[in-house]
Amino acid sequence: MKNPFQYGDVVGGDAFCNRRKEVGDLLRAMENGEKLFVYSERRFGKTSLVRFALDKLPKKQYVSAYVDLWPTDGALSFATVTAKAITESMSTRAEKIFEIAKSFFGRLSPSMTINDQGKPEVTFGTKRFGEPGPELDEVLEAPRKIAAQGKWRVVVVFDEMSFNRFWNTVAIRLSGNYEVSSRHKPMSHISFLVAGGI
Ligand SMILES: Nc1ncnc2c1ncn2[C@@H]1O[C@H](COP(=O)(O)OP(=O)(O)OP(=O)(O)O)[C@@H](O)[C@H]1O
Ligand SMILES: [Mg+2]
Repeated sequence: MKNPFQYGDVVGGDAFCNRRKEVGDLLRAMENGEKLFVYSERRFGKTSLVRFALDKLPKKQYVSAYVDLWPTDGALSFATVTAKAITESMSTRAEKIFEIAKSFFGRLSPSMTINDQGKPEVTFGTKRFGEPGPELDEVLEAPRKIAAQGKWRVVVVFDEMSFNRFWNTVAIRLSGNYEVSSRHKPMSHISFLVAGGI
């Protein structure tokens, strides 16, 4: 008999067991534009859970972006991985991806490439280094601009977050941009989830 349990990687599909209540709670939070943390000790299943819930959102109505913060080391890498996740969750067509990237993330100099599986991918680059600048502001403003167009609800999951000085800067800006007026439209159409270890 095949072992139903998979170890090591993020699990999804049939390998994803139980967690019905948690999936329901997360989906409700995503649908209601909530801002919340998902945290636990290492290897408790945070990534599998948030990805499973994110995949359940209807693609036509939701921008559902999964941002893996693991490879990031500061403002600009944070900005580029977030911009890429948002852009690529909005279309699979090369021209459309490029159009979206230019309209919401123009400061990050988008360009298109084709990956080894033949899929279009957007790449962002910038010559600037150092402290958070207008590139970061543009990225943090994007969910609001996208929701304001009225066509999409926006869910962004920041996974593998670690509490550090840089994350504090992002969190303060995010709450400044979104939390205060979160009851107003289109704020109720934007949800942020932050997942990480304790
Ligand atoms: N719902 C689930 N059903 C079955 N196995 C699971 C489930 N969730 C997690 N696992 C198991 O736990 C392992 C760790 O899961 P996952 O990577 O999602 O956890 P994590 O909390 O994100 O870990 P980390 O702290 O390293 O980021 C998976 O490789 C898988 O073996
Ligand atoms: Mg994880």
